[in-house]
Amino acid sequence: MILITGGAGYIGSHTNKALHKAGYDTVVVDDLSKGYENFIKWGNFENYNTGSSDLREVFEKYDIDAVMHFAAFISVGESVEFPQKYFKNNYKNTLNLLKLMREFGVDKFIFSSTAAVYGNPQKIPITEDQDLKPINPYGHSKFITEKALQREAEKGDFNYVSLRYFNAAGCDFDGEIGELHDPETHLIPLILDAAIGKRESISIFGDDYDTPDGTCIRDYIHVNDLADAHIKAYEYLCSENESNVFNLGNGEGYSVREVIDMCKKVTGCDFEVVVDERRDGDPARLIADSSKIREKLGWTPQYDLSKIVESAWMWHKKINSI
Ligand code: UFG
Repeated sequence: MILITGGAGYIGSHTNKALHKAGYDTVVVDDLSKGYENFIKWGNFENYNTGSSDLREVFEKYDIDAVMHFAAFISVGESVEFPQKYFKNNYKNTLNLLKLMREFGVDKFIFSSTAAVYGNPQKIPITEDQDLKPINPYGHSKFITEKALQREAEKGDFNYVSLRYFNAAGCDFDGEIGELHDPETHLIPLILDAAIGKRESISIFGDDYDTPDGTCIRDYIHVNDLADAHIKAYEYLCSENESNVFNLGNGEGYSVREVIDMCKKVTGCDFEVVVDERRDGDPARLIADSSKIREKLGWTPQYDLSKIVESAWMWHKKINSI
């Protein structure tokens, strides 16, 4: 049985579905503070906060073999305003999980880390051995959690894989689950809101960066490719007695303008694009060197930006009844 914290959220629910398709049993632990109950369509569900001492009941009830830990706050801007909230939820609650895992002899952990642990990268594409210098509390909360995992593994009888996600995007191709944040801050859903006329326009946060068209470049990765990497990470932990850290991106960068153009092409909708101020803390470029995960786990991404936008568009139309 695989325990999925945050399994009612965006990436957790897609991974839950992928695990079921691959024949694994799961139990979702989610307090529904950010997630959606109707995203839990597979496996068991237990309503707990990961920081709760009652979480022990879940470990007592199920024979848990591994934990995939998605539950976290994810908004960089909010983390700057409320750092304690981020350290408590993202770091301290993970310690509670680790304590219970030790107590119940659960020795495999897959962690949702982030490209934000690098801060402003020293070189592009980013390799895992670059210095970790997070520039906001969100990235910092994930960084210290990675350190806690490293120390835990050094003690023995415990291994982890930390997956440093780049820009998760796209949705389930069956339209059963998708991306839904409140408030929404991510680029692609906001562009699609402009496409359906829910927003008047889409703002580009700065067009004076040192990039070919002046807008920020990111590495967008389909959520199903992320889910697949989690399954491969689990299988790796089952077969190898070692911990590891992997970047998880397509290895290809797209500028904000290129993403907007792709959305216009896929949707066939035109909408206004406005150039706005830079957003604080946005590095000009974030592109993964994903060769390590490709080689070690045999992971290959299946979906490019057009598929990412097509799937997101399908979901967006569905939730807006179009
Ligand atoms: N952007 C705009 N206009 C918008 C929204 C975003 O121009 O209305 C730009 C951003 O400035 C950025 C790019 O689009 O250059 C992507 O922005 P997102 O907010 O979609 O994603 P981020 O790259 O900021 O964030 C992602 C994850 C975070 C994670 C971060 C790590 O979504 O959870 O990468 O760097 F913390």
